[in-house]
Amino acid sequence: MANYDVKDLGLAEVGRQRIEWAAQEMPVLKLIRERFEKERPLEGLKISACLHVTAETANLARALAAGGADMVLVASNPLSTQDDVAAALVNYDEIPVYAIKGEDNETYYKHLKAALDHNPQITMDDGADLVTGMLKERRDLLSNLVGSTEETTTGVIRLKAMAKDGVLSFPVVAVNDSLTKHLFDNRYGTGQSTLDGVIRATNVLIAGKTVVVGGYGWCSKGIAMRSKGLGADVIVTEIDPVKALEAAMDGFRVMPMVEAARIGDIFITATGDIHVLDGEDFAVMKDGAIIANSGHFNVEINIPDLEKAAVEKRQPRAYIDQYVMSDGRRLNLLGEGRLINLASAEGHPSAVMDMSFANQALASEFLLRNKGKLEPKVYALPEEVDREIAALKLAAMGLNIDTLTAEQEHYLNSWEEGT
Ligand code: ADE
Repeated sequence: MANYDVKDLGLAEVGRQRIEWAAQEMPVLKLIRERFEKERPLEGLKISACLHVTAETANLARALAAGGADMVLVASNPLSTQDDVAAALVNYDEIPVYAIKGEDNETYYKHLKAALDHNPQITMDDGADLVTGMLKERRDLLSNLVGSTEETTTGVIRLKAMAKDGVLSFPVVAVNDSLTKHLFDNRYGTGQSTLDGVIRATNVLIAGKTVVVGGYGWCSKGIAMRSKGLGADVIVTEIDPVKALEAAMDGFRVMPMVEAARIGDIFITATGDIHVLDGEDFAVMKDGAIIANSGHFNVEINIPDLEKAAVEKRQPRAYIDQYVMSDGRRLNLLGEGRLINLASAEGHPSAVMDMSFANQALASEFLLRNKGKLEPKVYALPEEVDREIAALKLAAMGLNIDTLTAEQEHYLNSWEEGT
């Protein structure tokens, strides 16, 4: 394969403008990029990134390249690539990109291989595909590896399982564990972009609908909150009693999925687990039900079961597969069950990706600075990094906050003073 694989380099100018537009909402990453340009902390560092190829990711790739990194970027999902952005990165930034929206599984894995063939010192994952590839098939790469970073909840769960089983042989920074990542990207990013994806795919009115949200982690919280904000009656399903209680006290109805399945109009999963929507749910859903997933993998919906149960499959609109069941009910699966916010919309807005990708950029610097000193386990970035990113974001938003007085500081650090 040539040293890139994108849909059409002719899209590069549109992509460049899209990247610049996103950059306006990414002031923290801009500051990091400016420092990287001066200090070149990543000089010659080989980075392979497997991320959603969006305008926001392009701004991260540019910041890393400005720091001296020798980058390769591939897609972390077959449906999430913005082809114009991929073209712009190749054409104007000379960053090799291997990503085409709608690529088949074979091409997806060929692209992953290109990222691994780069012989990375640092890998950046959104879903742990590069790490899994290295550990399962390309162990020859491990000796050159300084460490990896991981963007998403699903990937971090996998990596922690690898560490627990003793198979992780290098340090990983769980970017998702930073507060300035999951409190904002997962909640407000997923909340807004998922509803955006459902609306762009279907153009249905959310007000008055019953929306069933699978899970009540940070992503699902955002989806439930934004669905309610648009006027939906929201039901949350959970397996964790604490999270279920939280959902109930946040004002949502809580019940098992198979009960919710009978009354929901729109189903959205974001749990990170398999078969949250299964055969028994499809069997009782209403005619016209809309089914979407915003978790990393489409396994949250048992699509093979849906395929088997259906007597006919139609495509009434782009991004909608309509399954006709033997009793005539029509169930509408959006975006092949892939992350709907990236399949039919544009992913999280730039303003939250600003903080997520500031964490990614600083994580690569952290791994390099601590080369040889870290253990083969999953690390969170130091608390100071979170505070710094939050402070920069507040400053960019023009918001000032209070500082502790000496008296308050003393009080917080002492135990003698009582009532
Ligand atoms: N994940 C969710 N939204 C994203 C975006 N806009 N860019 C990259 N990764 C994302």
